[in-house]
Amino acid sequence: MKKLVAILFICSLAFHGYSKENSSDKKWWKEAVVYQIYPMSFKDSNGDGIGDLKGILSELDYIKSLGVDVIWLNPIFESPNADNGYDISNYRAIMKEFGTMDDFDALLKGMHDRGLKLLLDLVANHSSDQHEWFQESRKSRTNPYRDYYHWWPAEKGKPAFRPGNFEVDGSGWRFDSLTNAYYLHYFNFRQPDLNWENPKVRAEVYDMMKFWLDKGIDGFRMDVIPFISKDVNFPIITDKDLKEKYNGDWSQYIGNGPFLHQYLREMNEQVLSKYDCMSVAEGTGTTVQQALDFVDADRKELNMLYHYDGVNYGYLPGKFKTPDPKGYDLVGFKTIYSKWDSVFANKGWGTIYLGNHDQPRMVTRWGNDSPQFREVSSKMLTTFLMTMRATPYYYFGDELGMSNIKFSSIDEYKDIESIAMYEMTKNKGGDLNEFIEAQKITARDNSRTPFQWNAKTNAGFTVGTPWIKINENSKTVNVAIENKDPNSVLNYFRKMVQLRNTNKTLIYGKYELIDKANPNIYAYTRGEGKDKILVLLNFTKENVNWNAGGKGVLGKKILINNYTDLNLKKHTVELRPYQAVCIQL
Ligand code: NOJ
Ligand code: CA
Repeated sequence: MKKLVAILFICSLAFHGYSKENSSDKKWWKEAVVYQIYPMSFKDSNGDGIGDLKGILSELDYIKSLGVDVIWLNPIFESPNADNGYDISNYRAIMKEFGTMDDFDALLKGMHDRGLKLLLDLVANHSSDQHEWFQESRKSRTNPYRDYYHWWPAEKGKPAFRPGNFEVDGSGWRFDSLTNAYYLHYFNFRQPDLNWENPKVRAEVYDMMKFWLDKGIDGFRMDVIPFISKDVNFPIITDKDLKEKYNGDWSQYIGNGPFLHQYLREMNEQVLSKYDCMSVAEGTGTTVQQALDFVDADRKELNMLYHYDGVNYGYLPGKFKTPDPKGYDLVGFKTIYSKWDSVFANKGWGTIYLGNHDQPRMVTRWGNDSPQFREVSSKMLTTFLMTMRATPYYYFGDELGMSNIKFSSIDEYKDIESIAMYEMTKNKGGDLNEFIEAQKITARDNSRTPFQWNAKTNAGFTVGTPWIKINENSKTVNVAIENKDPNSVLNYFRKMVQLRNTNKTLIYGKYELIDKANPNIYAYTRGEGKDKILVLLNFTKENVNWNAGGKGVLGKKILINNYTDLNLKKHTVELRPYQAVCIQL
């Protein structure tokens, strides 16, 4: 009898362990390094000044040489490009500037032949106003597509305020006289929000996802996915509510709609669970408390989510993307990333990034882009990204140490966000110089300039006129030069990826912040017991001595170092400006 009870107990444990996934469970997407490409700016194959799919195909060997596993492409679908592809007019067609469906098929094959996986951008919170659904929807109140979008009849008065992100007047409602009604758009008026409350819309989105997954793509990055479900009564949200319930942050209200998780579970059940694919949410408005609701594997929703706490850190409150002139405080930075690590200590899985197409270049914002420190601080930031317990999303060009272009006139900007916010500042009588100065550090166009292949005309990106200016430092910061230099930022990135790929401790090992109050050094360990790696990152332009404590680290194996030497004393490590090292303890 006792024996039987014991067997039953063991079986139940085994069953329990089998049905509950925890964060140390192995998955290919946890072990991957994702390389993000902004297709408009990677490589132009036909001289029209715009990057395209054939351009990417021609450089797959370069991408493979980096050691990365997954390529995430920003939207490549048919679009009038009000927001560079984040306004899709046909979800099943390729943007004409980027090529054809045949080009896409060839690209996907080229990637798979090389063992690279492909992640596409799912932009389904909103479409373009040129999408056939919206064109129909606006025609009449009885059109079969009317309920594909959110309409507010004007006879009910003005709808309660909702923000429209890329709008000069900041409003998320647009009046359409054709049917005497307002429609909702959380971004620009050319990006109307789809009505996910309508089951037909959800079915359309799931079908479209299957269309791409059936072609063989390996997953989706999901644009502002927390925004999809709306309280369709559109209640008034007072300033007081916003402050008390949503931390004064509209995206926290918008990113927590009533049926959000029901829809994600439905999407998982109907689409994602049927493929060996990965999914990552853009976690706009998502706090640490809510993150697991998206990515706890037992909930069967999504795999990963990327948060904004890190990249929004260090801005002056109440001003649009204006960095504190005093710089940012490293202790706060460490607190944010450590807190986000702890969310996934037992369940779910995290992401780590410092740059993408919505952020400036990481070296300008988080490192130091002066000629003296650009290379070494780029390498230091790469070390950080590749040694955290999370899947790294690494932005193309950061591997070269590309830095912000820093436009000094609004006329040079192409981005709808910068242009709208400039106009808004002007209309409010704000300080336009201050705005332009802040944009030099934070504008999205800083990271959207063409990739720097070589020192030739237009950095080898195009033989035509590039759609946006190319950074002048392309003469020295480029693939051709960096390929030849064993100590380049590029070759450091390759080594760092290789170190991560060959060292499971850097992937799954426990993360522990040490010396938390140190204002200059970010120090942490990965792993436990005998298998522990110490990561030391000097975030300053000064030499800093780090106290290694009792046993010290003399004689330990240095796994990687962004300088050629390291000054180890018995109890201290002397770190040079922006020095980064990983030491096997
Ligand atoms: C987030 C995207 O990353 C950004 O580029 C875009 O402008 C908005 N969502 C709207 O789609
Ligand atoms: Ca082209």
